[in-house]
Amino acid sequence: MQRANPKSYFLKTFGCQMNVYDSERMAEALARDGYSETDDVAKADLVILNTCHIREKAAEKVYSDLGRIRVIKDARKRDGKETVIAVAGCVAQAEGPEITARQPAVDLVIGPQSYHRLPELIARAETNSESIVETEFPGDEKFAAMKAPRRVSSPSAFLTVQEGCDKFCTFCVVPYTRGAEFSRPVSKLEAEARELAAAGAKELVLLGQNVNAYHGEGPVGRTVGLAELIRRLAEIDGIERIRYMTSHPRDMSDDLIAAHAEVPQLMPFLHLPIQSGSDRMLAAMNRKHRAAEYVDLIARVREARPDIALSSDFIVGFPGETDEDAEETIALVKAVGFAQAFSFKYSPRPGTPAAGIEVQVPEDVKAERLQRLQALLEEQQLAFNSQVLGNTIPVLFERRGREPGEFVGRTPYLQLIYAAGDGDLTGQTADVKVTETRRVSLSGVISAA
Ligand code: SAH
Ligand code: SF4
Ligand code: F3S
Repeated sequence: MQRANPKSYFLKTFGCQMNVYDSERMAEALARDGYSETDDVAKADLVILNTCHIREKAAEKVYSDLGRIRVIKDARKRDGKETVIAVAGCVAQAEGPEITARQPAVDLVIGPQSYHRLPELIARAETNSESIVETEFPGDEKFAAMKAPRRVSSPSAFLTVQEGCDKFCTFCVVPYTRGAEFSRPVSKLEAEARELAAAGAKELVLLGQNVNAYHGEGPVGRTVGLAELIRRLAEIDGIERIRYMTSHPRDMSDDLIAAHAEVPQLMPFLHLPIQSGSDRMLAAMNRKHRAAEYVDLIARVREARPDIALSSDFIVGFPGETDEDAEETIALVKAVGFAQAFSFKYSPRPGTPAAGIEVQVPEDVKAERLQRLQALLEEQQLAFNSQVLGNTIPVLFERRGREPGEFVGRTPYLQLIYAAGDGDLTGQTADVKVTETRRVSLSGVISAA
């Protein structure tokens, strides 16, 4: 039921896919309350920034945005219009009242585990002169209370199945911003997946900070792992593709590896962060596995699914990292061969153990190591893409491209691919012959729909 509400909102999302998912859910709840979306902040009665705390740059960006939004809020006030500014997400959780102290124009600070209270808190913020800070970790499921119908903006839909993290890697804020590991029950996920499929989703991307640690309540109180969840979701009519991210090497079960060989809907792509190729660094990071174990794991995954595309995350310049450690990361990358990867300079985060280590790596050394690593990863990405030149592969088209008649889709290996087509190909899967390969995308010609 849509309520009458002349108000509009502006929502900006930073950070990972889990934030994108949360933003979609917040947008659905606002739509149910009759809000319309605007991409012009100056027209918005409600501004929500869904923030990320993972690296310093991401967090600082929020404050520069807030500075600009404050000016707009003041200008609107002079025209007699009120603006509610809300900060959601991981900066909200990590900094709480510090946010309103630094930027008093903020009316509402809401952590990721409190979104079910969003409508109520917005209503309170509209009448309250004092800002509200809500960063509790309630035990129940945050989205259960929102009850707004799911919508899909793309044939590839996000579905958060697990949240939080109990791993406490020494560099990482996630266990503090998202709380303890929590898996959503299978029945809820199946219901949501069916709703997404009915709304046009063809692909499900199962999300979790540690998605392969998933252990949700299944039928008759039994606990179900990620592999079984995937097998069950693959049964849903209309779901052609399934992906999942982000996984931890420690939670890569034999069952999940087997699913890559057995479940046709499970796409041949695995994002499995390792962070470093040095055992000394892995121990200091509290990753709880060694580089050789990762290499062995990859070999087993490749045995199950030889064509699998591998992706990872790397941190360079972790405190105490030497040239030899950095060299070991390079050697690991060469040994594995990645289809794509993300790499970052270590960013000390307040409250995490690594931030307190005295021997931090100088910025110029970090930059140099990052450049070297990224050059190698880019070379591997290009090489991976070149392999499919001339092949015909099934592509799920997600949206229209910029050129007339152009569509943009993904190969099973998550490669971005452009092809021309008639009518509307969005949501359709077609065989495409790859005619051109570049580092970040491919081009092809549709051979059969
Ligand atoms: N749960 C995932 C990662 C979540 S955070 C895992 O265990 O791998 C996403 C990525 O951000 C991490 O993999 C890491 O590479 C990077 N990251 C996290 N904290 C960081 C920090 N303090 N500085 C730089 N990069 C960081
Ligand atoms: Fe952060 Fe480590 Fe948890 Fe990943 S596993 S979210 S890097 S603490
Ligand atoms: Fe950032 Fe929070 Fe995701 S810190 S990466 S938005 S879990």
